[in-house]
Amino acid sequence: VDLTKLNTFRITAKAKEFADIETAEDLDSAADFLAQHPEKRFLILGGGSDILFSQDFDGIILRNHLYGVEAAGEDEEFYYVTAASGEDWHSFILRTLDAKKPGLENLTLIPGTVGGAPIQNIGAYGMEVAERIHCVEYFDLKTKERKVLRNEECDFGYRTSVFKKPEMKNAFITSVTFKLPKKWEPVISYKDLREHLQSNHAPELHPTDIYNSVIAIRKRKLPSPHKLGSAGSFFKNPVLSREEFHALQEKNPSVVAYPMAGGRYKVSAAWLIDNAGLKGLRMGDVGVYEKQPLIIVNYGSAFGEDVVGMAQDIRVRVKNCFNVKLEPEVVIV
Ligand code: EPU
Repeated sequence: VDLTKLNTFRITAKAKEFADIETAEDLDSAADFLAQHPEKRFLILGGGSDILFSQDFDGIILRNHLYGVEAAGEDEEFYYVTAASGEDWHSFILRTLDAKKPGLENLTLIPGTVGGAPIQNIGAYGMEVAERIHCVEYFDLKTKERKVLRNEECDFGYRTSVFKKPEMKNAFITSVTFKLPKKWEPVISYKDLREHLQSNHAPELHPTDIYNSVIAIRKRKLPSPHKLGSAGSFFKNPVLSREEFHALQEKNPSVVAYPMAGGRYKVSAAWLIDNAGLKGLRMGDVGVYEKQPLIIVNYGSAFGEDVVGMAQDIRVRVKNCFNVKLEPEVVIV
């Protein structure tokens, strides 16, 4: 099976076997199949927006086609909405806005599926999805159990969650229930967003103003997925201890960073890559995107191994310049 159209990087790769997961029965059959073939590797594929195929995949791809969105009650503070994991993330946000249940608008236009959102705790423009998640349901492909994890059990952190841990490697997320505040308030802590809203002189902010601003900012900075292959930010913003950060700042007073809880600092990887002089770097069909150097782009028909090579190059050069280690946000298969 050709995977080229199933990953937003548009890397050419093939998989030996492929199964579409459309129902609970399909999940059951997949679990049986894996039990019969314990040596077989499997990979759950949603939107393919956070994955880099470095080579062909010799196992079975389980493609998530679980769809459906439904209201799941309310209490004094929140509306609860459950979405099946195969739903497209951005379309889901549109539906909640149409239903007058805002609260996810800062995360507009992030590629991928509802099921992918909690795994790496997607975040943008001052919000992380963890703030809006009530619980996550998954099916264990090994034990065939269905389990629900409450928000506190998901171990959410910056671009991480319990679903990244080895003990969760058999978890197929089936749905996510969101808690959307009845008393909506705009989240405008992110500088770019605030400035964009101010420049448009909106007197009173509505969820759609945030929605439209985020779209405008993203269009300005991020490559259009229709034109260039990429997987969004390739690296995470590295988190440094206070001491490490001060050492870095002493040598580089202009470094951009955000203070975190516990006295640590999240340093802008875009700044590091830019100031290591790598912006616009290109090797064959792989490049460091000019408007946002945190993004590696595929200008044509790059191979996965070319992207891996470029990523390694960036890591070495950033390490040499700033003594900071970059870690990929993208899952490399
Ligand atoms: N910068 C430079 N040079 C550049 C571009 C940016 O020095 O060429 C510096 C600027 O100082 C800028 C700072 O980098 O203020 C931060 O850039 P940006 O606002 O674009 O955000 P980011 O830290 O690069 C993160 C997320 C994005 C998210 C944006 C907006 C990560 C790894 N990335 O990027 O998420 O959309 O903030 O909230 O956390 C993703 O995860 O795939 C993703 C796109």
